[in-house]
Amino acid sequence: MDMEKIVSLCKRRGFLFQSSEIYGGLNGFWDYGPLGVELKRNVKEAWWKDMVTSHDDLNTLTGAPQPFQMTGLDCAIIMHPQVWKCSGHYDLFHDWMQTCRQCKKLVRADHVWEMLEEAEWVRSFAESIEATDWDDLLKFNSLRSSQWAQRKGKKLAPGLALVRNPDVTLSWLAEDLRSNPEMRLDLPTLLRYLATEQKAETGLQTPCPHCGGDLTEPREFNLMFKTIVGALGSAEDAAFLRPETAQGIFVNFKNVVDSSRVRVPFGIAQIGKSFRNEITPRHFTFRSREFEQMEIEFFCHPNESAAWYRYWRDRRYEWYLKLGLARDRLQLREHHAEELAHYSVGTADIEYAFPFLPPGEFGELEGVAHRADFDLRSHSEGKLVKKDGALVVELGPDGKPKYKGSGKNLAYMDEMTKERYLPHVIEPSSGADRATLAFLCEAYREDTAPDENGKPTERTLLALHPRLAPIKAAVFPLVKKDGMPEIAQKLYLRLKKDFNVFYDDSGAVGRRYRRQDEVGTPYCFTIDGQTLQDQTVTIRDRDSLEQKRVHLDAAADEVRKRLEA
Ligand code: GAP
Repeated sequence: MDMEKIVSLCKRRGFLFQSSEIYGGLNGFWDYGPLGVELKRNVKEAWWKDMVTSHDDLNTLTGAPQPFQMTGLDCAIIMHPQVWKCSGHYDLFHDWMQTCRQCKKLVRADHVWEMLEEAEWVRSFAESIEATDWDDLLKFNSLRSSQWAQRKGKKLAPGLALVRNPDVTLSWLAEDLRSNPEMRLDLPTLLRYLATEQKAETGLQTPCPHCGGDLTEPREFNLMFKTIVGALGSAEDAAFLRPETAQGIFVNFKNVVDSSRVRVPFGIAQIGKSFRNEITPRHFTFRSREFEQMEIEFFCHPNESAAWYRYWRDRRYEWYLKLGLARDRLQLREHHAEELAHYSVGTADIEYAFPFLPPGEFGELEGVAHRADFDLRSHSEGKLVKKDGALVVELGPDGKPKYKGSGKNLAYMDEMTKERYLPHVIEPSSGADRATLAFLCEAYREDTAPDENGKPTERTLLALHPRLAPIKAAVFPLVKKDGMPEIAQKLYLRLKKDFNVFYDDSGAVGRRYRRQDEVGTPYCFTIDGQTLQDQTVTIRDRDSLEQKRVHLDAAADEVRKRLEA
């Protein structure tokens, strides 16, 4: 899989465009084009259908004959600022960032070395000293280094100390190597020498992945977007765009229980936009500043929470497999204790081997977290912190709760057992954009298929699961005469009632098939000479290339049958 080819297809065929492209784009924001919007809607609809409306999994823990209940919510993006204080996001939802002293760009501290590995200037420097890979860079060569600095370096890494002042920079390195023959010049050390002009004063500097300049020490940076509610614009009017949809569910827990007669265990699902002011948005839509989440908060009895955690982790993993992700590119990874979020007592990530990652590396598609009663308790009592292994309300300098909760009793009363308790929560939290990207990457293929003359020709194919395909079927009249277009139009209008279909009568039929293969259309109907005789049409399958004749009246049922298979 070649990421550049996938990105290019997405733009060429209208899946994804950079936001505000005609003004040069805005980093971290993306627009879904005519086909992209259908694909992403299908991903979200498959999730909603499978997890909420059509879900029929029984409560396997109790063996109850009924499926457990799943319901939905659609909450506001801007919520009361106290929500984020009690949830912990106000104090804790930050990344560490560094600023380049030369180009002033910001870089996420934990992304610096990964970005350096991908940086064009590092690759060019490696080539100049004739290193063939990252480890080979250690073959440091002083003369070649200063030649590179004076030529390519000026353009590619104008901020690098080696480029700004090669003699001084190299002299520090040469001196240290001379005075310490034992010195091990590993790669990070070499790059840090190249970024250092005044070693005696500053120590070794970390190079900026963008221009080679030197980076400041890491500083905390809160990822929530701030906004102002109302016209006055005073400090008290500050609010935040939600960084996750989950909190809307927690603060509505009581409303849902009181209004819909759900019984624990049950889940509340929500799909919606979330916003994070990511320091280094990258890898296409993988890390964006505006994205959509598909989250479930599943409320259960504390005694059953460990079992429900395992249930959701495994069920969500299977969902991706069912919709086409390959098992060898999908993994479930349990977090180590030190990786856990402040609220989590257990988390597993569902990860996919995205093609933009180095071989063997996986990126997060979804997190399944055991959040215990952290959220309901903090929205009731005030922001919680861990003290001596237990969660307690965090106190301010005056000894009062640092951030007061709502004061509402969010406990659940089980009318059957007469037990009152705060349910535990299992949270499968997925990204709609990441899932869409993973399905796109998985589906991209290049193969050969016979054209209409039987000659093998190359084709690009999106082998998307038919449920996800933006267009379900295309309709072609073989030629634009003999009444074929009229029959094709009629079939097109009939199918359009139930499915997103496409009509195409231009160019050779082989080329029309190729155009549909490239956007993942699973079925193509062709009206030909035989249709005029017996009212049958061919239906061609995108993956097997098999063609079969069906009666015009049975075409819609045939598509439905195949989509449900
Ligand atoms: N409520 C828990 C929560 O938000 P998270 O791991 O921060 O957990 C859940 O986010 C999912 O949201 C991720 O697994 C990912 O799919 C998606 N996501 C998070 N940040 C994202 C970003 N900057 N761009 C695109 N998707 C993102």
